[in-house]
Amino acid sequence: MPGASRRITVPQFSALKTQGRKITMLTAYDHTLAAVLDESGVDGILVGDSLSMVVQGHENTLHVTLDEMIYHAELVGRAVERALVVVDMPFPTYHLGVYKAIENAGRILKQSRCQAVKIEGGQDQAETIRGLVSAGIPVMAHVGLRPQSVHTMGGYKVQRNEAQLQGDAQAAEDAGAFAIVLECIPASIATQISATLRIPTIGIGAGKGCDGQVLVTHDMLGLTQGYVPRFVKTYANLRQTIAEAVKQYCDEVRGGEFPSAEQTYE
Ligand code: KIV
Repeated sequence: MPGASRRITVPQFSALKTQGRKITMLTAYDHTLAAVLDESGVDGILVGDSLSMVVQGHENTLHVTLDEMIYHAELVGRAVERALVVVDMPFPTYHLGVYKAIENAGRILKQSRCQAVKIEGGQDQAETIRGLVSAGIPVMAHVGLRPQSVHTMGGYKVQRNEAQLQGDAQAAEDAGAFAIVLECIPASIATQISATLRIPTIGIGAGKGCDGQVLVTHDMLGLTQGYVPRFVKTYANLRQTIAEAVKQYCDEVRGGEFPSAEQTYE
């Protein structure tokens, strides 16, 4: 395994909060992009179930299977030398009882070389988080907007129930989660939760008061077609860059300019 022992460990990741250093996380689903993110110094790489939408083209995250997550996690796990690698447990692989959750999470860790799993839920998942942690499986929790509950929540909406959010975050910490994603919640609530918890909060659409930030890489690189949420900052326009390069290639092949002598063996 390339340098996995040099990776940021789960305790080191959590300790970044007490060191006062903002934590950076991005998603990756394949070997090439994972290596680029890792080389660029990101602290954590999430093999998100967003791959259901980003890679597979589905309308939500419910479609990706455990086997597919493990396949992509293995590609990422083999590429990463420095960052902590976390894998989403897909719907509904942790809703079928603690035993089944441990079995499924165990498969992810055994087969992918990744270090932790992420599950959506707080108070409702406390027993499962506790069970996974007692089996030696580090858990990142995910509260606020929970994309796997899109049908129950009635869409991708900002979550504003302060008591529920506080309760979920505290329950996840009490159950042993080492970090917690806060998705799409008002900044004031996220700041308050971050101040209360000992474990780091990783925000996505939760303002700058979180201990770290995560984004879907395809969104922040400008690869996503169509709608991107307001909380995304687009740092590059790779969709356009790639389209221009491909168009130039097509023009040059059709015009006889490529391959030139430089790309040709004598
Ligand atoms: O699946 C995913 O990419 C995620 C992040 C957006 C937090 O859960």
